[in-house]
Amino acid sequence: MTAMLPRVERLAHSDFTRDLDASVDELRSLLDLAADVKRFPERYRTALSGKSLALLFEKPSLRTRITFELAIQQLGGFAVLNDGPIGAREPLKDMARNLDRWVSGIVARTFRQQTVDDLALWSSVPVINALSDMWHPCQALADMQTIREHFGNTRGLKLAFVGDGNNVAGSLMLNATRLGMDFAIATPPAYALPSDVVALAESGIEVTTDPAVAVRGAHVVYTDVWTSMGDEHEAAVRRTAFEAYQVNDQLLSQAAPEAIFMHCLPAHRGEEVTDSVMESSRSVVFEEAENRLHAQKALLLMLLSRDNPNQ
Ligand code: CP
Ligand code: NVA
Repeated sequence: MTAMLPRVERLAHSDFTRDLDASVDELRSLLDLAADVKRFPERYRTALSGKSLALLFEKPSLRTRITFELAIQQLGGFAVLNDGPIGAREPLKDMARNLDRWVSGIVARTFRQQTVDDLALWSSVPVINALSDMWHPCQALADMQTIREHFGNTRGLKLAFVGDGNNVAGSLMLNATRLGMDFAIATPPAYALPSDVVALAESGIEVTTDPAVAVRGAHVVYTDVWTSMGDEHEAAVRRTAFEAYQVNDQLLSQAAPEAIFMHCLPAHRGEEVTDSVMESSRSVVFEEAENRLHAQKALLLMLLSRDNPNQ
């Protein structure tokens, strides 16, 4: 017997190029749906039947690429992959209007946020940001799902990010504050979150250069690589600048007693995090990685499911 596909609320916005493309209510619905998809995957296995999505990757990926491909397949759709620079062999606006004729959606990992925005501008199908220099919204969805699962709720918790004020930090700040969490970030002075990103937070955040201050009372301690993709030429300088920003047992012991450790991965043990923290019972990094699959299924459903008039 074929299971009835549950009714899925659609996003008002036709793309997901940044975290703020979903309202706070939509974010909550998406996380509820992600939990249902995780629990009852078979209910959704025909939701994208007959639909193809193009996965465009300008940068390497393990988690994002594999979880999107699997998510699309497990929802009954088909993923087509294309690696390489976007807008180099032919203008982006031509590429976008080619893809438009073949696929029902585009998932893009790009060097510049402008590239994702331009794909959304020039194509009529939903465009999903699979990481840009500015944001990593799909990662933050999986992270919020992981925090909800672990603590039962997000409200009243404190998330401390230690390290580079990068794409992952920006998306986390937005999602955490939108879900009622306190957010603190400790970075070296030259690597702070840009002020226009901080201005988008739902509530005031704690900005410091002292990791111990940020993690005080934190329920979640989060870090990411010191050198993001595209910044490799700065790696040596960054290793020095971030030396005092390693998440190790000593730093983690200053967080709340029930604190968990999170990292989007890939992790560089011995740099932003120690092997001991990665392997500790506080570490939920593989739960986060698993939830990429479920959270992205929920996102695909809310952008592309059958009753969505965008499709
Ligand atoms: N966390 C994450 O986005 O991993 P990948 O770069 O492997 O996709
Ligand atoms: N900040 C990292 C995240 C990788 C998933 C990067 O952009 O390379």
